[in-house]
Amino acid sequence: MPKVKDPSLAEKGRLKIEWAKAHMPVLGIISERFSKEKPLEGIRVAACLHVTKETAVLVLTLKEGGAEVCLSASNPLSTQDDVAAALAEEGIDVYAWRGMSEDEYFWAIEKALSCKPHITMDDGGDITVMAHERGFADDVIGGTEETTTGVLRIESLARDGVLKYPVIAVNNAETKWNFDNVYGTGQSTIDGILRATNVMIAGKYFVVAGYGHVGRGIAMRARGMGAKVIVTEVDPIKALMAAMDGYLVMPMREAAKIGDIFVTATGNKDVIKAEHMSLMKDGAILANAGHFDVEVSVKDLELMALSKREMRDNVKEYLLPNGRRIYLLAEGRLVNLVAAEGHPSEVMDMSFSNQALAVEYLIKEGRGLNPEVHPVPRSIDEEVARLKLASMGIEIDTLTEEQERYLKSWRG
Ligand code: NAD
Ligand code: ADE
Repeated sequence: MPKVKDPSLAEKGRLKIEWAKAHMPVLGIISERFSKEKPLEGIRVAACLHVTKETAVLVLTLKEGGAEVCLSASNPLSTQDDVAAALAEEGIDVYAWRGMSEDEYFWAIEKALSCKPHITMDDGGDITVMAHERGFADDVIGGTEETTTGVLRIESLARDGVLKYPVIAVNNAETKWNFDNVYGTGQSTIDGILRATNVMIAGKYFVVAGYGHVGRGIAMRARGMGAKVIVTEVDPIKALMAAMDGYLVMPMREAAKIGDIFVTATGNKDVIKAEHMSLMKDGAILANAGHFDVEVSVKDLELMALSKREMRDNVKEYLLPNGRRIYLLAEGRLVNLVAAEGHPSEVMDMSFSNQALAVEYLIKEGRGLNPEVHPVPRSIDEEVARLKLASMGIEIDTLTEEQERYLKSWRG
């Protein structure tokens, strides 16, 4: 039996899903093929994903292909309750509601795993780790992983010799990492900050911690809105890239004194902690776009604060002993999914097409793969790009035979 907040929200959720579907043409093509060929017949998928309208389109695509899907949330605050209700009505075993406690969150993942999956589909590593820790891994053919932090955790499982089945790093597909993480998070993080605060971005000092895929996208969009962007990094090459892209680069202890808005995008812990918070200006806004709520030390804020209050939805004010106020967005969880709707459908179209095709690939080839982290096959990545370009009405050139020969030859 599914567990959602309010089944009566289903009609609203259905309309949202219809909206998303209309903006996900590549997944639409895959869904049509799946409904004819039924490549996932008899397959059980246990998925731990943010329960959004885009995830709903993916789950319904898998169902079209013949799969039975059990779905749990990938974050206690990211579930869209109307979408969850609509999915439950569609016969999906969904265990997700916004505002789950930590215990309920892990309970829901275990419920999803109780379907005895052939495939796990993860966003952050939690369902893969639990499948291994609680004895659900034996019959699994393979898994997929949606995000950078999850790939790192599953690579660590493999390094420790614990991983029992192959996992496809969907995150690292070119048509995922270079678009979802960059443009998707770039837009939706700004969206989350604006929906929560409605502050002016133009003219503000906007600090981005981490200049990887996600940080680069956020910095680009903040600059586009007129912010003076500062980047903090630990990797000298990434720091150099940020500097040559025209951003100010400095350590967090310096940026802390200047910034008006801070966003963490590192996948690391304690990037902003007490020693930085005590340097910040009155009114500084803190948000996180990384997978877990460990990048801004909420523990430090809670310990330091003399008092706190809910200022607005998704905005908590902390009064520090120095008399300054700090505003934490979305409890330090993914601001784009908690305070806004996550990435736009158009970019999730590519991420989730990779997911659907990776599942089909695992069913065909998974039993022959080692229990390691594997890349998305290049043919899938290129197919997603080709279909996306076609859906955008964009044509490209093709190599002539002579050009192909030239590129392969040392003769010149
Ligand atoms: P990435 O590896 O491309 O980039 C991370 C960067 O952070 C690296 O350049 C690294 O050097 C830097 N870094 C690490 N520790 C740091 C520190 N203490 N201070 C400053 N910089 C530091 O990873 P990515 O793809 O950009 O993903 C970053 C995080 O965002 C991950 O947790 C990922 O799972 C998450 N993510 C979130 C969303 C979303 O919807 N919010 C989408 C995609 C990825
Ligand atoms: N991660 C980021 N944005 C998302 C979305 N719209 N749906 C599911 N997962 C996401």
